[in-house]
Amino acid sequence: MVNLKFSFANKNAVITGAAQGIGFQIALSFLQSGGQVAIWDYSEQAIETAKKELAQFAGQVHFAQVDVTQKESCEKAAAGLPWACDILVNNAGITRDKSFAKMTFEDWNAVINTNLTGLFNVTKTLSEKFNATSTHKRIINISSVVGLYGNFGQTNYAAAKAGVIGMTKTLAKELGRKGFTVNAVAPGFIATAMTNAMPKETLDAMASKVPVQRLGSTSDIANAVLFLSSEQAAYVNGTVISVDGGIVL
Ligand SMILES: NC(=O)c1ccc[n+]([C@@H]2O[C@H](COP(=O)([O-])OP(=O)(O)OC[C@H]3O[C@@H](n4cnc5c(N)ncnc54)[C@H](O)[C@@H]3O)[C@@H](O)[C@H]2O)c1
Repeated sequence: MVNLKFSFANKNAVITGAAQGIGFQIALSFLQSGGQVAIWDYSEQAIETAKKELAQFAGQVHFAQVDVTQKESCEKAAAGLPWACDILVNNAGITRDKSFAKMTFEDWNAVINTNLTGLFNVTKTLSEKFNATSTHKRIINISSVVGLYGNFGQTNYAAAKAGVIGMTKTLAKELGRKGFTVNAVAPGFIATAMTNAMPKETLDAMASKVPVQRLGSTSDIANAVLFLSSEQAAYVNGTVISVDGGIVL
């Protein structure tokens, strides 16, 4: 039997929206596996907190305040990267949930600009910053179970997350010959600071709908991202890994 153990020594990752939540756990997991990580996030406050929490990895981690909706902001951050990139995790995302009847153009534009155009901005800007000699370049896009199945009150979010999957599959076809794999992860209900603030009864009701009877953890998502980022995942390309406890079955 082969035991998989991922080492990211000498690997450099850019992770967007990584100052908190799922992205933070992905960053922490890479750092614990020996990788170097650039955390791109637009929240100054979240970056300050993350800096303190990651103080022990000071030599491995680099922070930049970046708004993924702004091409110029991405270009500035890419120019400031201290190394060539091996792995990009497009994780930054927002919600503006409302029924279609109540959803405004602003709600639509904010979510599409961050969750879909943001990926284009970051990926396009970084495309020239990847390690040209690496045959194991990786792009992992964080979609959502909602992008596969839709969800009441999330027209904007579901459209963006479905778009992420289309973009993932197309880039997998275009970039495969250039030493990349491009994949997506579709999380289900994940416990984050946001869900932790919800009433226990609501969380229990959500968990009871999941076959494995719990919400996902940020580590569940980070584990899938690390697998897809590893050299062992070299033949996994253009796929969507659902990490949702079987919620959609
Ligand atoms: N939490 C869940 O249950 C869940 C489920 C499915 C998918 N997801 C997806 O996972 C990703 C992370 O979600 P999370 O729950 O950790 O959210 P979160 O709100 O805790 O973290 C998102 C991070 O993205 C950053 N961000 C937002 N807009 C940005 C922008 N324009 N530029 C740069 N940074 C920006 C925020 O500052 C924040 O640090 C998102 O793409 C989300 O859609 C989450």
